[in-house]
Amino acid sequence: MTHSLRIPDLTIPARPDQGTARPAVGPGDAGDAAINDIDVIRVAGEARLAGTVHVVGAKNSALKLMAAALLAPGRNVITNVPRITDIAIMGEVLRRLGCGVRFEADDPPDPMIARDGSPRSRQVIIDVPEEPGAEADYDLVRRLRASICVLGPLLARRGYVRVAHPGGDAIGSRGLDMHIAGLARMGAVISGEHGFVIAEAPDGLHGAEIVLDFPSVGATENLVMAAVLARGATVIDNAAREPEIVDICAMLSGMGARISGAGTSTLRIIGVPELRPVRHATVGDRIVAGTWAFAAAMTRGDVTVTGVPPAFLEVALDKLVSAGGLVETRGDAFRVRMDDRPKAVDVVTLPFPGFATDLLPMAIGLAAVSDGASLITENIFDGRFMFANEMMRLGADIKTDGHHALVCGHERLSGAPVRATDIRAGAGLIIAGLCADGVTEVSHVHHVDRGYPDFVADLRALGIEVERGTAPEEPDLAI
Ligand code: EPU
Repeated sequence: MTHSLRIPDLTIPARPDQGTARPAVGPGDAGDAAINDIDVIRVAGEARLAGTVHVVGAKNSALKLMAAALLAPGRNVITNVPRITDIAIMGEVLRRLGCGVRFEADDPPDPMIARDGSPRSRQVIIDVPEEPGAEADYDLVRRLRASICVLGPLLARRGYVRVAHPGGDAIGSRGLDMHIAGLARMGAVISGEHGFVIAEAPDGLHGAEIVLDFPSVGATENLVMAAVLARGATVIDNAAREPEIVDICAMLSGMGARISGAGTSTLRIIGVPELRPVRHATVGDRIVAGTWAFAAAMTRGDVTVTGVPPAFLEVALDKLVSAGGLVETRGDAFRVRMDDRPKAVDVVTLPFPGFATDLLPMAIGLAAVSDGASLITENIFDGRFMFANEMMRLGADIKTDGHHALVCGHERLSGAPVRATDIRAGAGLIIAGLCADGVTEVSHVHHVDRGYPDFVADLRALGIEVERGTAPEEPDLAI
């Protein structure tokens, strides 16, 4: 069976007043494929990754940096922003809030322009009005859960905000209670109606002492963005410590915010009356870097990754050493080489600096081809193992029980058609396909486009035979 190749158009839509007929905020909206076609990536198995790959800015930082721009009227410029669907959607969220949003050639440019000549990063220029809008609708929020991060900055700027409740997703239920309780401590009155979260602080927010039940990344970000313009001092205890938190704190400090403790469990913020616009470079994407590190180990390859400090991946790289890999680190680069079949290692996901939950599919992939049995424990999302059934279609021997998975390794997996259910599961399945006999076709790879700027070009640069195309969507016959 042959399928026509179709590279999706990730062009960031221009503002409606700049003449775009229809906002194309994702691959599903673009191109001329038949309505029921789905994007697929096919890889040949028994492959080995070798070469160098440069990783651009982190999705999970750039999205929040774009929201943080709302805090300062005027022109904010964020560089090293990955060219992915989620960023395009966030651009649309900001446009609907009245911002001018333009994507331009990055400065400095992506050192590894993708094969089709398009860069994987850009800079985004965000012109924020004196009075941004205060509503984010469900049609965009459902496509980008991270749009909830406009809650904090808009409440701080406008004293009122109405954001659609994003609901759960394919990796599990995803609460907002810590975002809401923290904002309430700062004086907001929060209610919910018709699927919206409504927050009001007509007299402005005030500083507060907040202890998070869990170091939630999203809650920490929303609360920091609210606190920088609040009256008085805010202390956030049990705050998230991810590099993306350090990045947003650095951008906010560049805007004039007074924050200390970034990267530790206690953040102290002294509110200021106003912030000024800034130019800021996004930190490198540790999850993309980790994906390549695991792919190198699983395929017994030799890959050098640049653009991300290895300290962001200390536990993950240490696991690869325990599995028998050689890891060399230098500045913002590291090299992973695996000469023999990996040895089984146990993995437990935890908030940073622990092993990242977003690398769980890669850890399961590694375990599936390792010598021995691995116990993989997921502590962040209740539905993260949902993709394990797809991995089992590739011959992986996985038994899940609650938040544990026992994986018995086999030297080779077996190529099959499988389906991506979320960004990381999609990337994990494609890489697992490289360790299989025959061809693996991963469908619904629009999920992968949400987090990896040009996965296919990067795979090719690392010597992999890979093809992207479309296939007809199978009708759902379930009753
Ligand atoms: N949680 C609550 N209540 C809250 C907030 C969180 O119960 O008020 C729970 C969540 O349901 C989840 C856990 O706490 O079970 C962790 O959630 P967290 O808030 O830390 O995660 P997030 O901010 O929703 C971000 C990333 C995720 C990444 C997690 C953990 C973005 C846009 N998303 O999500 O990335 O897995 O932190 O590191 O930053 C991805 O990129 O594919 C992705 C899912």
